[in-house]
Amino acid sequence: MTFLQFKNGDKMPIIGLGTWKSSPGDVYNAIMEAIHIGYRHFDCAAIYGNEHEIGKAFSDAIASNEVKREDLWVTSKLWNNAHKSGDVLPALKKTLNDLKLEYLDLYFIHWPVAHKPAIVFPDSPGGFLTYDEAPLTETWDAMQQCEDKALTKHIGVSNFNSSKIDQLTNSGIKPEVNQVELHPYLPQYDLLRYCQSNQIHLTAYSPLGSMDRPSMLKKDNEPIPLENETIKEVANKHNASPAQVLIGWSIKRNVAVIPKSTNPDRLKENFGSVNVQLDEEDMQKINSIESQYRFVDGSIWTTEGSP
Ligand code: A2P
Repeated sequence: MTFLQFKNGDKMPIIGLGTWKSSPGDVYNAIMEAIHIGYRHFDCAAIYGNEHEIGKAFSDAIASNEVKREDLWVTSKLWNNAHKSGDVLPALKKTLNDLKLEYLDLYFIHWPVAHKPAIVFPDSPGGFLTYDEAPLTETWDAMQQCEDKALTKHIGVSNFNSSKIDQLTNSGIKPEVNQVELHPYLPQYDLLRYCQSNQIHLTAYSPLGSMDRPSMLKKDNEPIPLENETIKEVANKHNASPAQVLIGWSIKRNVAVIPKSTNPDRLKENFGSVNVQLDEEDMQKINSIESQYRFVDGSIWTTEGSP
């Protein structure tokens, strides 16, 4: 396994298991199977609604000596309705309680978007908080306090562009990771360059195109990365699957990648991507894919009148 290294020497396995859209009922078996296969990096979030069940799998796997806590790399994310400074620590404690862990390896601000505390998904502009009411720097300070209390080893952001990261960096402490949508239809060249020059790791979510997204996040006639002809050609060349090529492309760019699956065969297939060695010709071919598309475009936060 390849790892991305942090300043303090900690190492994040470059492939992790995504758990967005893994329903309670499926996710327990998926985590157990993934640990058995060799996954050690698990990407979670409070809003996915499945941390309680994931926590049961972690605690059972640890109790049966299948894995040690210190060998796991567990991430989670602060939801948008807990951005006010007094709400961050309780949200992290709830996540730790659900995951049955004493600390996280990495805690993200999920989106640079704040809701009123009682509002999980705003259905009107009044459900949001403005940046004056909930400045990102306030949330970031509270995240640092969680790190100071050793409840998370590292802190990061998700869905942040470079100018929003700059706003945080003015406060002194940089995020160590930015997790964004990233695949050959959205290669994020500028953000990758920016993050690399600021010693910030990138993690790619929706690396396979997240075709199992909820319908409110889907549009008609979206491209399907797994069915792209160039991806299929490269896959044939390496006797690999399209998913392995999509995952291998991120690995080759030193970008962590968190494909989601709850299917044992696909879990194994995706983990096997580390063995698919793409060469420069493959990378150039993939990088020349012209279609560009963002699947999770954030438009649910930008309804008319929202701040
Ligand atoms: P499943 O969970 O049934 O395996 P993303 O990681 O981009 O969010 O994509 C997740 C979607 O891709 C899910 O629908 C998942 O289905 C599917 N998927 C995961 N691994 C593979 C694979 N190796 N080949 C095809 N589809 C896959």
